Amino acid sequence: MALANRSLVTIDDLSNGEIEALFSLADEMSDSMNEQFGVCHGKVMASLFFEPSTRTRLSFETAMNRLGGRVISAVDVKATSLAKGESIADMARVVGSYADIIVIRHPWEGAAKVVADYAGVPVINAGDGGHEHPTQTLCDLYTIKKERQTIKGLKIALWGDLKYGRATHSLTYALARFGATILLRPGPRLELPAHVIRKLTTEYGGELIRSEALDQAVKGGLFPLDAIYITPSSPHQLAMMPDVSIQVELKTGVDALYVTRLQTERISAKAKRQGLKEHYPVVDKKLLKGKEFKRTLVMHPLPRIDELAYEVDADPRSMYFKQAERGVPIRMALIAFLLGAKEISVPKEGDYFILKIDYPVYRREFGVRCSNPKCVTTQKGEIKYIKPEFKIVNTKPLTLRCAYCEHEIHPQYIASSEWHDGTLDNKKYHSADSHWTRKIKPENLIIFDSQTEAEAHGFKPSHYARVGH
Ligand code: NCD
Repeated sequence: MALANRSLVTIDDLSNGEIEALFSLADEMSDSMNEQFGVCHGKVMASLFFEPSTRTRLSFETAMNRLGGRVISAVDVKATSLAKGESIADMARVVGSYADIIVIRHPWEGAAKVVADYAGVPVINAGDGGHEHPTQTLCDLYTIKKERQTIKGLKIALWGDLKYGRATHSLTYALARFGATILLRPGPRLELPAHVIRKLTTEYGGELIRSEALDQAVKGGLFPLDAIYITPSSPHQLAMMPDVSIQVELKTGVDALYVTRLQTERISAKAKRQGLKEHYPVVDKKLLKGKEFKRTLVMHPLPRIDELAYEVDADPRSMYFKQAERGVPIRMALIAFLLGAKEISVPKEGDYFILKIDYPVYRREFGVRCSNPKCVTTQKGEIKYIKPEFKIVNTKPLTLRCAYCEHEIHPQYIASSEWHDGTLDNKKYHSADSHWTRKIKPENLIIFDSQTEAEAHGFKPSHYARVGH
């Protein structure tokens, strides 16, 4: 399969084999950096960074410069026509007619997908709000792979802001797909969002264990943990006898500790920020004295604030500057593949963990919309042209996953486009809790946010229109 002309919006846009091929090319390129000039000769990369960035933007631009291509850039929304009210789609079309490839960072979740849908050239997501940051994950995985040769079977602890951290979301998916065990240690009220957990336990087929065994393990001197995610490759007794096995498993040590900062810029309400900093987990020399951290790679996507002490920098276990440095060869390899400047040779897929679940897709001009205020589909200028799209990931209770930001919503009312015998009297809507949600074929389902909306479309309440039916 070729990578040319494809986009990278989420880490799941690349198969494990493609990621491995990328790593091989990154190795080759970093061993012969000076011979890469000319690989992308004559090509132009647009670098659009509408949120602060040091590493991601500069490593992308360095990468293109080292490949002999040219870079055009915009780093401030206020300096672009977006500030005049231009839509992301129009901007994407125009920039796509100037550049051969676009790298975009934007505060709205799902913005990179919109750019990819309209640009007509490959688009790389350099971070879309709190959604995903797939190229950071490539740098992270590449570092783990280089230091430990494999990812499968490793125990990787994710620390800090697992809720708003886009880098952690992409990394969690990738670790699960490569068969790692994930130890979750979120800050207070900063657990992984529901949609990330659903993906882990359905698409990637693993199990999330939150048990008393964890509390006991902590009491027994192990570091605090909220949950453990195990892939189908992990020893079965871990799932079956967590009480004994978790202690044993953790005592053998943690392979990597991935530290993240509190994403303050994504938590606008002061009340929501209360108490988050005070109990935020900190990684310092003292913590790393623990037996379980003897051989641990200390990782961080950077920038750090207070969660990772400077005293760790001199420790050979610290990996964060290496992660940042490796961003250049990784992004060189990615650009070269997406521009078709290098042929990809994908190794045969191993026993990777991803189940292709074909959830029914819900896509209508009217009816339910995403309720995430940070989703691109809910923004004033974008609502005019983006057709809402969801995956129906559950019917009991009815749960939709937005195709843009991937947040889950639980709409309250449903109807069928095939209302019985076609007479208006039978054009009824029902509570989403009723049996009708499973009875109506997914392709006929109409989903509403409210009764008012259902009635505005000519539907009348059925006996099953009350919530809780
Ligand atoms: C991350 C990001 O922007 O999401 N930084 C980066 O790209 N290296 C992590 C962060 O900002 O905390």
